[in-house]
Parts: sequence; C-alpha cells; structure tokens
Amino acid sequence: MKFIAKGLVMATISMLGCLQPALAEESKTESLTDKALKYEKLGVTINSANHTFAEKYPLQYNSWKATSESADLDSALEEDPRYVILWAGYAFSKDYNKPRGHYYAVTDVRDILRTGAPKDENDGPQPMACWTCKGPDAARLLEEKGERGYFDPKWAKYGAEIVNSIGCADCHDTNSEEFKQGKPALQVARPHVLRALNTVGWKFEDLDKHGKRAAVCANCHVEYYFKNKTDVTFPWDKGVDVDSIEKYFDEIEFADWTHALSKTPMLKAQHPDFEVWSQGVHGKNGVTCIDCHMPKVKDKDGNVYTDHKIGNPFDQFDATCKTCHEQSKETLQARVAEHKKQVKDAMIKLEDQIVKAHFEAKAAWDAGATQDEMTDIQTAIRHAQWRWDYSAAGHGSHMHAPDVMLHVIATGIDRAADARAKLGVVLTKHGVETPVAIPDISTKEKAQKAIGLDIPKEQAAKDEFLKTVVPQWEAEARAKGLLPAEEVKPAAVVAPKAEAK
Ligand code: HEC
Ligand code: HEC
Ligand code: HEC
Ligand code: HEC
Repeated sequence: MKFIAKGLVMATISMLGCLQPALAEESKTESLTDKALKYEKLGVTINSANHTFAEKYPLQYNSWKATSESADLDSALEEDPRYVILWAGYAFSKDYNKPRGHYYAVTDVRDILRTGAPKDENDGPQPMACWTCKGPDAARLLEEKGERGYFDPKWAKYGAEIVNSIGCADCHDTNSEEFKQGKPALQVARPHVLRALNTVGWKFEDLDKHGKRAAVCANCHVEYYFKNKTDVTFPWDKGVDVDSIEKYFDEIEFADWTHALSKTPMLKAQHPDFEVWSQGVHGKNGVTCIDCHMPKVKDKDGNVYTDHKIGNPFDQFDATCKTCHEQSKETLQARVAEHKKQVKDAMIKLEDQIVKAHFEAKAAWDAGATQDEMTDIQTAIRHAQWRWDYSAAGHGSHMHAPDVMLHVIATGIDRAADARAKLGVVLTKHGVETPVAIPDISTKEKAQKAIGLDIPKEQAAKDEFLKTVVPQWEAEARAKGLLPAEEVKPAAVVAPKAEAK
C-alpha cells in the first residue's frame, strides 16, 4: 500500500450484497424505496428542465453542460465487424456506437437505427423502456403516468416529453431545502432502480454519502432487461457477478432474441458498469465513481464544487487518481493502457471462437441436425456470448476490474470451446466438411451483407423521421417549457469532430 498517498475514504461502502452498508440516519417517514416496493407512486415532483438550473448553480451547470465537448461518435461495429455476426437477428447488428458525453443521450437514442423511424405514437420497433436511461424526463413521466402508464406504450408515444438529456433531477432532489442551500441532496427517483438496489442490500435511504454517490450512477450504468418486453428490470436477485446473472436468466428461460445463424436463444448484456466496478479493487475499497469521474475542484475564485463534466478521469488527474496514488500520470495511464490491451486481446480471441460457432451451428442445421443434437451446443454458445458481452458491454471495465474481466473472458473461451468440440461431432455425423467456410466479414458493410441487412433503406427512413417527426417533438417541448424557448446548441453539436478519440 506504499503508493497510496493520503488517507482513504476507507471501506465506507461495502461490496454489493456481501456486507451491511453503513447506515445513515433512519428516516421516520415512509421512504421512496418503501413506496417503490409496494409499486406505489413515489410522491415526488421532478423538475426535469435542465436549463432552469443554469442561473442558480452556474458552476455545476456549466461543468455539466461541458459534457458536450465529448462529441466524437465512433461506431463500435466499424471498429470490430465481428459484433455484427454476434448480434445477427438483433437490432444491435444494425447500429451501435461507443458512449460519448451525457449531453448527447437524447439525440443519440433518436439517431440510432435501433429505434427505427416511427410515423406515429403506435408505430416503431421499440417500447418506452428505451428512454429510461436518457434523462430526467423519464423519471418525471414514471411519476406522472405511473409505471404502467410509462412502460406500456411504444417509444414514440412520449417523444415530445423526453427531451432533456441526463441532468440535475436524475441525481438530485432538486425541490429539497438542502439542494436550495447548494448541498447535494442525492436522490434516485426511478422505482425499478430503488427496488433493485434494495435487493442487493443497497436500500438507497440507508446508504451513507459514498454509497449514495455510486448509487446515482446505478440509475443507468447497469445490466438490465425488458421484463414482459416492456419493463426495465435489473437481473440482480441472485447477485451481480456474471454467473449469478446467467443463472437468473437461465431459470426464467429468458432470451433477448434468437440468433439468426445458430438459432440460439441469446442474452444481450447492457452495460454492467456498476456491477463490474463493485467487484474490482476500487469498488471493494470504497472508492466510488465520483472519486474518479466527478472530483471536487476549485473555480478561479477558490470556490470548491463538484466537477459535473463526467468524462475521462485522467483529464483531471490531480483531483482524481493523485488524491490517493503517488505514481505519475504517465505511469498510471500506461498501467491502464496495458490492462486495456490484455482485456481486449483476450476478448477478440473469444469473439473469433463464437463467430465460428454461430456459422458452424448454421451449417449443422442446414445439414439436418436435430434440436436434440443442438440443445447443449446452443446452451454453450449462449453462455459463451453472455460472458463475452458482460465484458464487452461494460464501458471502462478494463480500468474498473481488469482481473474480473480476464476471468469472465477465460470462462467464456471454455464455453465456446465446448460448443465447437460438440459441433465437430454433429457436423461429421451429418457429413459436413470442416472447416466450415466463413464469409468475408472484414468490414461492417460486408458483415451486414453476410447476414442480409438492408441498411441504406433503414437509414433513409431514419433520415426522414429526423427531418419530420423530431422537429415537431422539439417544438412541442419548447412550447411547454421543457426546453428553453430558443434553441442554443454548443459549438460541438453543430460541428462534431470527425477524428477518432
Ligand atoms: C449523474 C449525476 C448528477 C447529475 C446529472 C448532476 N449532479 Fe450535481 N452532484 C452529483 C454528485 C455525485 C455530487 C456530489 C455529491 C457529494 O458531494 O456527496 C453533486 C453535487 C452537486 C451540488 C452540491 C455542491 C457541489 O458542487 O458539490 C449541486 C448544487 C449540484 N450538484 C447541482 C447540480 C445541477 C444544477 C445539475 C444539473 C445541471 C446537476 N447537479 C447534475 C451528481 C449529479
Ligand atoms: C440517467 C442515466 C444516466 C445516469 C444517472 C448516469 N449516466 Fe453516464 N451515461 C449514460 C448514457 C446514456 C451515456 C451514453 C451517452 C451517449 O453516448 O449518448 C453515458 C455516458 C457516460 C460516460 C462516457 C462519457 C464520454 O464522454 O465518453 C461516462 C464516463 C459516464 N456516463 C459516467 C457516469 C457516472 C460516473 C455517473 C454517476 C455520477 C453517470 N454516468 C450517471 C446514462 C447515465
Ligand atoms: C478508480 C477510478 C474509477 C472509478 C472508481 C470508476 N471509474 Fe469509470 N473510468 C475510470 C477511468 C480512468 C476510465 C477511462 C479508462 C481509459 O482511459 O481507458 C473510466 C471509464 C469509464 C467509462 C467509459 C467511458 C468511455 O467513454 O468509454 C464509463 C461509462 C465509466 N467509467 C463509468 C463509471 C461508473 C458508473 C463507475 C462507478 C460505478 C466508475 N466508472 C468508477 C476510472 C474510474
Ligand atoms: C479514493 C482513493 C483512490 C482513487 C481516487 C484512485 N485509487 Fe487506485 N487504488 C486505490 C486503492 C485503495 C487501491 C487498492 C490498493 C491495494 O489493494 O493495494 C487502488 C489500486 C489501484 C491500482 C492497482 C489495481 C490492481 O488490480 O492491483 C491501479 C492500477 C489504480 N488503483 C489506478 C488508479 C487510477 C488510474 C486512478 C484514477 C483514475 C485511481 N486509481 C484512483 C485508491 C484510489
């Protein structure tokens, strides 16, 4: 521990579900979690209009707005076309970008091909659930309409209502006395999140300030699925590690989709950042997301405030890593880059195995393999890809818990090897020559062609939607005061930088 310079905020929070979290002052009145557990409305008022906080909280507001500076939009499918094959038959194979600044969350969910081009409120491929981690209007509508009123409709139903990106009321009780005095008053106001946190021993109201800080990020940076195709649900009943969640999904026989090539009932991991962090060395030592992503900084007059420009912690090295570590920025950055390379290299080995397994399974089906012959193989493919996705979908996991990621990937490679060994037997039995030919999937376009997607057609419909429907949504929102009357976009939105990060 020699390199840990200063006293740590030590062990103030616990591992998920393992230890008892530090208790805050017991509240006498019924908590929001208690109401959420009874599926009652929370009784909160959510002021979702971010611009209304600009004047009173300029330091926090301006630093929050500066997340717009992280504007680069990088396609993960272009970077690694294997993804297209891994997600064949599922909308992620059409379009999937790496994350950028919080400022863009609403724009990006409208732009992505996965949400389609709905012409009216009952049209389009997705449910309302797809708005849930995009901003405080989701929390507002959950309260106003109730969970059924919010989750049941199609995605386009409330397009004119969900217009503010991840903002103040996602993390703060903005109507509280405390907040009015400039204190944090952290709050979670999504009932499904309160229930999930409670399941893993993280009842929000009972957490100390460190626990609450991490819990606000767990509003969104978590693994979830759409229960009954509509309700955002965290699969945490058995725990948050890769095995527990896999077991949860297997027991309820849940599948996000059926794979187009191997016909496997698949799982899609979302972004288990909170789960992965909790298993890593920092999470276990009570170092939270906030210590690294939202440090305390000073303005030019020496006022201390929380930097709301959530981005790469290395950009604020002195206020983040350096508060605990003695090593130089270069040393730590090199260490993280090394972890990233190790995790990435292992991940690609696993991807190659699963891609082959999908094509081999297709060849087996085509040659007349029976479901009986294929069931164990499909289970192995499902588990292998779940393990790959748990490590691939968690953003920054190579930093948050590189050891955990390498273990998860190793178990995935084992499952993929199992699938392919069994496939070898089935293919031989049905007279298929191996190796099975894999088409050219060296670019996103070629891979999409290999699985029969017509992207130009979908893009044309999307462009029309963005030109006709979205401006109406925005105009309605401005008229209602959800957005400022005049459109003011920071320079970064007008001219996004084209070069990669
Ligand atoms: C993603 C979560 C998140 C969002 C979004 C967010 N905050 Fe915060 N805010 C925090 C956290 C975490 C702290 C620090 C809490 C602590 O110190 O315990 C904080 C602290 C504050 C404080 C207390 C003073 C300080 O600077 O430490 C104020 C005031 C505040 N935020 C205002 C805002 C405003 C205004 C917005 C919208 C423009 C906003 N916040 C958006 C998470 C958020
Ligand atoms: C209401 C949901 C929500 C909350 C709360 C939230 N995030 Fe995010 N976060 C997102 C989404 C969505 C994106 C991707 C935005 C995009 O690419 O359009 C994102 C992106 C990010 C990024 C990438 C930024 C970049 O410039 O590349 C980081 C880092 C991040 N979040 C950290 C945090 C931390 C730390 C917290 C808690 C203090 C937090 N987030 C709270 C939804 C949320
Ligand atoms: C010990 C510091 C530390 C803690 C704690 C931490 N992070 Fe990170 N996080 C980082 C660093 C550093 C990176 C960038 C890694 C890199 O440069 O390769 C990162 C990357 C990310 C990214 C990916 C950003 C992108 O654009 O790809 C997200 C999202 C994120 N963190 C969210 C979280 C959340 C949510 C938590 C808490 C549950 C958390 N982090 C806890 C240091 C931390
Ligand atoms: C609030 C204190 C704190 C902050 C801030 C912090 N760390 Fe740490 N870091 C720790 C502790 C505690 C450990 C565990 C030390 C141990 O177990 O010996 C650790 C361990 C590490 C390790 C070794 C991990 C391993 O698996 O052995 C690396 C690398 C690291 N930190 C990088 C960073 C980086 C990069 C940042 C900034 C983005 C950062 N830390 C921010 C407290 C912190």
